[in-house]
Amino acid sequence: MDYRYDTILLRYGRWALDGTRCEDVTTYLVLVKETCEGIAQDIARATALIESASSSALWSPRLQKDDRAAGSHLFSITSQNRRDLSLPQRRREYIMLARRKLPDQYATWNRAWGAPYGRRWPSAGTPLQKLDNFSAVQRIRGPFAFQDNSSTRAYEFPWAYHQLTDLGPSRIVEIGGALSGLQFVLAKDGHEVHNVDPFFDYGSGNYDVDPVAEHASLNRAFGTNVILHKSTLPEADLDDQFSAVICVSTLEHLPPESIEATLSTVKKLMAPGGRVILTLDLFLNLAPFCDRTTNVWGSNSSVAWIEDLLGYEMIAGERAELYGYEEFSTEDILSRLDEFAFNVGYPQMAQLVTFRAS
Ligand SMILES: C[S@@+](CC[C@H](N)C(=O)[O-])C[C@H]1O[C@@H](n2cnc3c(N)ncnc32)[C@H](O)[C@@H]1O
Repeated sequence: MDYRYDTILLRYGRWALDGTRCEDVTTYLVLVKETCEGIAQDIARATALIESASSSALWSPRLQKDDRAAGSHLFSITSQNRRDLSLPQRRREYIMLARRKLPDQYATWNRAWGAPYGRRWPSAGTPLQKLDNFSAVQRIRGPFAFQDNSSTRAYEFPWAYHQLTDLGPSRIVEIGGALSGLQFVLAKDGHEVHNVDPFFDYGSGNYDVDPVAEHASLNRAFGTNVILHKSTLPEADLDDQFSAVICVSTLEHLPPESIEATLSTVKKLMAPGGRVILTLDLFLNLAPFCDRTTNVWGSNSSVAWIEDLLGYEMIAGERAELYGYEEFSTEDILSRLDEFAFNVGYPQMAQLVTFRAS
């Protein structure tokens, strides 16, 4: 028998099943459809997924709905581990902050949008026919459910969003927006949003779905019109006069020459007074904390160097906490580690800074 499956849902299933993300997931939906036009590779993956789920001690697959008339089977796959966690343990997993204390308005924003990981499961009582509709599932899980990311995004996303709340409907570029939710939230606020992302492998492997198709499907689900440019910024076909550029956890993955080329293009695109809103990982296993200069994800770029490249004034940010400034001291940062949040899976914190274009 041939199968077709929904790629978005299968991605989540794969993360669940390969064990690398088992701390971050509870239950996944996998919708497998019979079709006489299945692609050989897809059949193998879908079949392997279900088989490995069935034989795994950690994961229990359950057939939610077997709709032979529509030729579809909806499985849920649930982590047995997760059920054993106590409520305080589960709560802690959500409280991963750039600062240990998340401002109330950020927590409220995260709750409203299901950030930073997406809502875990449709609410009790969701009719099964809704779960058989991908757009409905995407809406239920929310815009932040479709891009893998670090736990420090619990702070980064609402922080970046709140850098813009006083701006009326504007033209915004997100650099490296991938399939993450911020672009869709900003579009729902009435902004014209351009996401410029070449969908390069930045350390976690290539995207295993067609990002353009998946992005289009998310636009449909959320009723938005985010314009995707599958490109780097210098190569994107954009004209000038943007009120804001947002770049969440992307520059640190780029080599210095790409950062220079990207920021030089930013300068051409910015309207006077426009904002450049950046978050950058600060890796604790790299210089200035030790001699090592690169890791699998990238490097610690000097924010002072970025400011020089832009030639703009910093309007939000604390030099003593931004790598590259004279005020930054490794001794001070290390002695205050208890104030900062870390990513769960890798030793990194998040730096936050906004510049104003002259
Ligand atoms: C860590 S992801 C960040 C995704 C998203 N901003 C988020 O917070 O979830 C880094 C993204 O940078 C993109 N990227 C890599 N090189 C790039 C470049 N030169 N210009 C723009 N984006 C790039 C990758 O394709 C990837 O989607």
